[in-house]
Amino acid sequence: MEGAVGAWAWWLGLLFGAIPLLCLTVWHSTDAWYCAAFALKHGGRGSNGIRRRLPPGHMGVPFLGETLSLLWYFKLARRPDDFIGAKKAAYGNGAGMYRTHLFGSPSIIACSPAANKFVLQSAESFGIRWPVPELVGITSVVNVEGSSHARLRGFILAAINRPSSLQTIATVVQPRVVAALRTWADKGTIVAATEIKKVTFANICKMFISMEPSPLTAKIDLWFGDLLHGLRAYPFDFPGTASHRARKSRRKLDTIFREELEARKKVNKQCDDLMGGLMQMKDEQGKKLSNEEVVDNIVSLVIAGYESTTIATMWAVYHLAKSPVILAKLREENIAMSKSKGGSTSTSLMITHTDIPKMKYTAKVVEETIRMANIAPMVHRVANRDVDYRGYTIPKGWAVLVWLRSLHTDPNYYEDPLSFNPNRWDVSRLSKIVACFNFLSYLVI
Ligand code: HEM
Repeated sequence: MEGAVGAWAWWLGLLFGAIPLLCLTVWHSTDAWYCAAFALKHGGRGSNGIRRRLPPGHMGVPFLGETLSLLWYFKLARRPDDFIGAKKAAYGNGAGMYRTHLFGSPSIIACSPAANKFVLQSAESFGIRWPVPELVGITSVVNVEGSSHARLRGFILAAINRPSSLQTIATVVQPRVVAALRTWADKGTIVAATEIKKVTFANICKMFISMEPSPLTAKIDLWFGDLLHGLRAYPFDFPGTASHRARKSRRKLDTIFREELEARKKVNKQCDDLMGGLMQMKDEQGKKLSNEEVVDNIVSLVIAGYESTTIATMWAVYHLAKSPVILAKLREENIAMSKSKGGSTSTSLMITHTDIPKMKYTAKVVEETIRMANIAPMVHRVANRDVDYRGYTIPKGWAVLVWLRSLHTDPNYYEDPLSFNPNRWDVSRLSKIVACFNFLSYLVI
């Protein structure tokens, strides 16, 4: 009898004592670890005389941090805004920054207009750091800094935003989109996401590397799919993981683009596409980009330009299908613009880059689509040094996630934020963060 009571007491002790204690220890251990390391290194007072401390938050469980919680809100619960909402509820709005641990890095999330502006405008304190830089390309525009970055960025902006480039893009993109729209109309029912992806990829292949759809471009598309998965996955590189598959696909893309590059060099072929432009680029000393630089930049540009425009177009189709009044107004403006050209052939009726600034309602539909689509829900930075902000310290080397999404869906900045209302852009309320982001969607939509 005594033995049985003893066994019960042991099990009850385990259930109500040791297990909760263990869970509590596990739950707080990462936080305790980082806070202790911070206190040891930064224990003193900052230049303003105030004791240094980390922004509020929680670093999650050992090893995984808060990655599972993020995935839960984004993928399973499908309430992405509640990831930040839960932090605001737990720690208050504070300085608009929270500490966390995501995808293998101690991180700070900036999620108020002031905090985001502070990070984005302090280029010397916060460098750009995309997750897994080697997947995008070490020498690509998104990973290099200083004069190399300025030179590549200048070239890319010119390649896509210069009037002559926009003219070329409009000429390449429109016939393909018109042809796709006709096929979709004939089919009656389509899976918009799949069809839009196909036509966008065909346009990207044509403009970037002068490739027409083929079994090879279908493979390239699959490899880019793997690459994008790998960029968002935990950076474990062993067989079976998304990261491992992404690295393999990156190597295959490397081979294909290098072969194309070398074939062009062999016969001195000049192509009027993005790869051709990158091959001709020279620095101040007249030195051209290396093969690796050309390939890295083509890969990073496809990553930046492909999924973004596909998703933007897909959401535009979704919202327009659900908003017949808005669609009618959009059609009216586009048809009027086409008719005003007075031509009779489908080419002469096409909208050109000079028409775009006149299409005010179309521009508002694009802005609203991009706000609601939240294609880039966050942008990635890294603290180059210890940075003090409103009584908190962002430690050197920590990742900084500028959470754009939470601004786009905050009722303080957008009335009824989850409704699709292009007219809200009659008064521009938030400044645009990048200039590049909507040029293609103007044309594709
Ligand atoms: C709807 C479409 C698009 C959206 C929403 C979008 C969004 C963004 C955002 C938020 C950034 C800033 C990232 C950061 O600061 O870390 C960015 C950077 C960039 N985007 Fe886009 N983008 C779009 C389309 C494109 C296209 C079509 C291209 C090129 C073909 C492109 C090329 C780039 C490049 C090269 C950068 C890096 C610029 C730099 O490091 O200075 N984007 N984009």
